[in-house]
Amino acid sequence: MATLRLAVFVSGRGSNLRAIVDSNRLKGLIKIVYVVSDKVECPAFGFAREQGIKTIVVGKNGLSFDQMATLFEEAGIGLIVLAGFLKLIPRDFVERFEGKIINIHPALLPNYGGKGMYGHFVHEAVFAAGDKVSGPTVHFVNSEYDRGSIIAQRPVDISDAKSPEEIAALVLKEEHKLLPEVIYKFSVECRV
Ligand code: GRF
Repeated sequence: MATLRLAVFVSGRGSNLRAIVDSNRLKGLIKIVYVVSDKVECPAFGFAREQGIKTIVVGKNGLSFDQMATLFEEAGIGLIVLAGFLKLIPRDFVERFEGKIINIHPALLPNYGGKGMYGHFVHEAVFAAGDKVSGPTVHFVNSEYDRGSIIAQRPVDISDAKSPEEIAALVLKEEHKLLPEVIYKFSVECRV
């Protein structure tokens, strides 16, 4: 079976990137060829370099999405994983990689998604609503924030959580399992 060649997009901490790299199940099945960020520097980039993974800056300080798309086609990228990437992906780029771009979101979409709903804002809204269940969603990316079709979700009991931070920690633990599972399905079945 051919190795699935990945590009992982990040904007910050990179714990989901780490979960992909650390996943035993994915060993030999995937190769992370590029880690891409809209930031010139971020903790995830530091981790990528430690792992010997090439880093790319996209946007005003780096490559255009068009240039990056060409690079990805030449490099045989089969799956693009948005793991904490905060910028909207342009429509042209989405169309060039139709069905090959996935995102992880820290709530049960379609709730708590859309522009401005990211990071702590998501968990604060869930906490304020008094929800008893939250959890990550992995979905296909289209050119609207968090609106592509859902691939997998993992409900998490948050009824004992006393703050948005506690909800974030419970959900993140499941993100680190769910994202490698979905990538595994892509790599083995080439479908989900
Ligand atoms: C995660 O909660 C992810 O769901 C969201 O952004 C966060 C990124 O965390 N899209 P990390 O950079 O992977 O640690």
